[in-house]
Amino acid sequence: MAESPSAPPMQEPVFVGRREDLVKAKKTKITVNDREIIIVYSTKGKLHAIDALCYHQGGSLFEGDIEELGGRSCIVCPFHKYSITLSTGECIYEEAVNPRKSKTKTVWKTLGRKQRIHRLIDKEDDVYVELSDLTDKRESDYFYTEEGRNSISIM
Ligand code: FES
Repeated sequence: MAESPSAPPMQEPVFVGRREDLVKAKKTKITVNDREIIIVYSTKGKLHAIDALCYHQGGSLFEGDIEELGGRSCIVCPFHKYSITLSTGECIYEEAVNPRKSKTKTVWKTLGRKQRIHRLIDKEDDVYVELSDLTDKRESDYFYTEEGRNSISIM
């Protein structure tokens, strides 16, 4: 009888800071198991954990602005202004409903989940992060490989 492949071991949650300190800082950069991530306090008053290197070309999202776009809390990459939702890691963009009219309505659309997000766990006033399951690929993963790291030219 063949053994079924075992699931990768789950990482233990890692302490990232006290909630009040993370809220005050708005953005905190930390490294967990060699992975640089940022903890972001959103405009909606929630903490999020997301890969620190932008899925597009590896830019530092730590330098990005936190904005409310299309009703969603986002971090906007400072390099090419991609907007990434903090709760899902989707890249979203605004599109005109009728581009031929000068004053037209716009809608927000998604390019899908590109940026890896991670789970935060509150234990009283302390916050822990649990890295997400890396078997479920995201484009930002590339910049955590040696090849990806070496390709970054916009830091
Ligand atoms: Fe982030 Fe290009 S590197 S948008």
